[in-house]
Amino acid sequence: MKKLAALFAFTIFLSMSVNAQSVVASKHDLSTGGGITNKSTSETQVCIFCHTPHQKTLTAKPLWNKTLSTQATYGTYTSTSLTTTTVADIGGGTAVSNLCMSCHDGTVAVNSLDNKSSLGTPAMGTGAELDATGKIASANDNNMGINLSNDHPINFTYDAALATADGALKSPVDAKYVDAAHTVPLYSGSLQCASCHNPHNNAQGTFLRVSNAASALCLKCHTK
Ligand code: HEC
Ligand code: HEC
Ligand code: HEC
Ligand code: HEC
Repeated sequence: MKKLAALFAFTIFLSMSVNAQSVVASKHDLSTGGGITNKSTSETQVCIFCHTPHQKTLTAKPLWNKTLSTQATYGTYTSTSLTTTTVADIGGGTAVSNLCMSCHDGTVAVNSLDNKSSLGTPAMGTGAELDATGKIASANDNNMGINLSNDHPINFTYDAALATADGALKSPVDAKYVDAAHTVPLYSGSLQCASCHNPHNNAQGTFLRVSNAASALCLKCHTK
């Protein structure tokens, strides 16, 4: 009986850790309790690598704490079949996708922060994810580089008018969400990295908003 109870408790514990919907201990937790081998050996706070309650020099939203990239242009996706004509370069701008690129373009160290804790600049441990200067390593798949022209388009208005003009897109319910269930967000009507990715939740893998098994994520927007 005791064994059964222990097994039951362990099963609950396992299902809890699998369903854990938190940035804590994920690959976006760069603190001492974090999810990468290069995690910090000094900083214990999780959110501090991206947010601060009190910005010093930065004004990027939401309460952004990570030094932004100075990359001025990333290029934009173009094709002859694309319907939208509003795709804008995110370089140097205020698009929320620029926040992702502050680490993922590989030009700025992940521990370069605006408002540090009393522990100072986080010391990063050893591992293969980051290079010796704390940038996402160039050989790492997660280093997207400074060219977004061969990536799914971002930073353009995705609204009912585009859906009608295109003929094979779902019509977003409003300027904040594509779907009525509020799983796929838009940012003032604009499609951004965080429309597909939730930086705080890696339950689906690759920080995706919804599992892409059977291409479910793609089908949230495309009717193909
Ligand atoms: C690796 C970077 C990263 C970490 C770590 C992180 N965030 Fe965020 N957070 C973001 C980005 C990027 C956005 C903007 C995109 C979005 O809205 O999802 C954001 C948006 C937010 C927002 C506003 C939008 C929303 O979803 O409500 C809140 C609140 C927030 N984060 C809180 C937190 C807290 C609290 C923690 C720590 C427990 C945390 N974040 C850790 C990157 C991060
Ligand atoms: C503070 C730096 C930082 C910011 C900001 C940041 N990331 Fe990351 N991200 C990382 C690091 C470090 C990793 C782990 C790299 C590794 O495991 O090799 C990672 C991993 C990922 C992964 C791969 C996860 C996996 O399971 O392999 C995705 C996808 C991702 N980030 C997307 C985003 C998106 C989208 C944003 C913006 C909404 C963002 N990140 C913002 C640092 C950051
Ligand atoms: C239209 C949806 C969508 C958008 C927009 C999007 N991603 Fe992704 N991203 C995905 C999917 C799906 C995967 C998983 C691909 C795979 O596993 O092969 C992925 C994978 C990744 C990875 C893991 C490494 C890799 O290349 O597989 C990173 C890092 C990442 N995305 C970051 C970003 C950043 C940063 C942005 C914005 C500049 C962004 N993504 C925009 C859907 C998207
Ligand atoms: C958040 C909504 C959304 C998601 C999720 C999404 N897309 Fe898109 N995608 C769009 C929009 C909007 C466009 C722009 C369509 C246009 O203007 O022609 C687009 C453009 C494209 C294009 C370029 C079309 C062209 O004519 O060049 C392809 C291909 C594509 N998406 C495939 C995918 C795939 C594959 C996935 C899943 C991995 C995916 N998309 C996920 C909204 C989305």
